[in-house]
Parts: sequence; structure tokens; C-alpha cells
Amino acid sequence: MAIVGAGNLATFLAGTLRKSGYTITEIISRNSRRSRQHARTLASKVGARAVTKTTATIDAELLWFCVPDRTIREAAWSLATRAKGKVRFAFHSSGALLSRELESLRESGAAIASVHPLMTFVPGSRPSLAGVTFALEGDAAATRLARRVVRDLGGETFVLPAARKAAYHAWATFTSPLWLAFLVTLEEAARVAGLTRADARRMSLPIIRQTLENYSRLGPEHSFSGPIIRGDATTVARHLGVLKEYPAVRNVYVALVLAALDRLPARNRKELRRLLQN
Ligand SMILES: NC(=O)c1ccc[n+]([C@@H]2O[C@H](COP(=O)([O-])OP(=O)(O)OC[C@H]3O[C@@H](n4cnc5c(N)ncnc54)[C@H](OP(=O)(O)O)[C@@H]3O)[C@@H](O)[C@H]2O)c1
Repeated sequence: MAIVGAGNLATFLAGTLRKSGYTITEIISRNSRRSRQHARTLASKVGARAVTKTTATIDAELLWFCVPDRTIREAAWSLATRAKGKVRFAFHSSGALLSRELESLRESGAAIASVHPLMTFVPGSRPSLAGVTFALEGDAAATRLARRVVRDLGGETFVLPAARKAAYHAWATFTSPLWLAFLVTLEEAARVAGLTRADARRMSLPIIRQTLENYSRLGPEHSFSGPIIRGDATTVARHLGVLKEYPAVRNVYVALVLAALDRLPARNRKELRRLLQN
């Protein structure tokens, strides 16, 4: 395999693929000093050559694009001529874009697929892929190969209809990026209560972990506690009062109470809804 890019996903994937017995021939980067340096560091870890699009030999059956969504099409186009007659498969890992971003490689004879892991990859963390789902979309031959590779990595796959991909990624964005946006809002709310961010993290993690554990074991309805299920409108009114001066926190609070009133068990719904309108 050859991997295009040397960022978060590329670094994780290259290491994991290598451990699973795959040979990484090249790490293909852009031609800036910084990009080549990143590619060299990654290539040396996985026994590959660090190359750019002009020095790449592309002696790989599979080209895996791990570049930002906005650059996939151009990166594929820039390698298509050299890949002709060599590369049999090309993947990218965007959750939102379709395999057709790689159309130029298909025209060069490769079967193409989008292969999106529902996992977060950041420097300093090495998640296990056990039970991690990869959404596949694309040509039959390419998705067949993707299934095999993902299985070798310990993950699972499901085939996503092209028309559902944007909606799939909107959902996927809630699982980590927007969940983190919620957590930093939670830290901001703690500051209103006079706590530091560090205190907020330390004090909130036990209840957050327990909530996740309950959610996983009992489901959302049976994990739900607090003023909304009890219908304590005066408590919610107090919260809204203190958050008035912190509109960024208040907006998230209101949106989440509304979501709870729509989807979770609650008493006194009418009164609670009325409070939110003020
Ligand atoms: N990170 C995640 O948690 C995650 C999870 C699932 C899917 N993905 C998907 O994985 C892909 C990569 O995301 P990422 O988080 O790994 O991004 P990233 O950390 O920003 O890395 C992107 C890499 O692509 C390189 N690059 C940019 N344009 C390039 C080009 N034209 N040719 C070659 N290399 C190029 C960048 O290098 P320079 O800028 O130094 O040139 C960098 O090494 C995206 O499609 C994303 O949707 C990511």
C-alpha cells in the first residue's frame, strides 16, 4: 500500500496496517519542507519511503488518501497518470465525501471506495479498532478489499448508500467533535460557578463516565435523571436566570433542554417549554 498524507489518520493507519502485516511502500506528501519532514518521520516508523507526487514510484496495489477532504480530488488527480497500470484500488477516508472524489484514479483503471472509520485519531492517543465500524461506499471490488483490510485491523464494516453519506457524517460529527464542543461548554458553565476548567474536568468525569456506562447498559430513557424528568420548573428557571449573562452557554443549555423534552421522559413539559420561550 502507499499512503497519501502524513497527518493524524495516516500516522495511525500506517502503524496499524504495518502491525497487521501489510507493507507500506511509500508515504506521499506535498513538496513543502514541513510536509516532507512529516512524511519522513512516518515513513521511517513503518519502513516506507517518503516521497512527493513527483518522486513517487507508486509501486503499490492500493493508494489510501489520508488528506483533508478539500484536497482529496486534487491529490488523486495529481497521481492518476503515474498510477495508471499499477494501482488497482484507491481509498479515501472522508466521512462526508463520496468515492467519486477519486474518479481520476478510476479513469486510470483503479476500483475506488470511501472507507470511513467511526473513530477519532489525534496525536498522543492510539485507539483500538476492535469493534470500530468503517462505513464503506464505492465500487464492488474496492469495498470487497476494504472489508478484508478492515477485518484484518479488527474493525467492522457496513455499506453506506451514497445518498446517505452526508447525513451519516452529520450523525458521526455528534459522536466526537460536537460531543467535545458540549464538553467545553460544560467547562464554561463550571467557570460561571467559580470552578476552574481543571476542577470541572476532574469533578465531572465520574458522573460523565457513569452516564455513558448507564446509556450503554440501560439505554437513554433509563439513564435520565435531573430536573427535567422530575419536572422541576423552578430549578430550570433558576438555571436560565444565572446563565442569562452567558449567552453561549445558555444557548446550548436551551437547545439540550428542548432535545430532552422532545426525546426523553419528562414531567411538567408544558411549563418547561414555556420557560424556554422567555
Ligand atoms: N483524524 C480523524 O479522527 C479522522 C477520522 C476519520 C476520518 N478522517 C479522515 O481522514 C482524512 C485525513 O484527516 P486527518 O485528521 O488525518 O487530517 P490531518 O491530520 O490534517 O492530515 C492531513 C494530511 O494530509 C496532508 N496533505 C494535505 N494536502 C495534501 C496533498 N494535496 N497531497 C498529499 N498530502 C496532503 C497534510 O500534510 P501537509 O499539510 O503538511 O502537506 C497532512 O499530512 C480526512 O478525509 C478525514 O475526514 C479523519
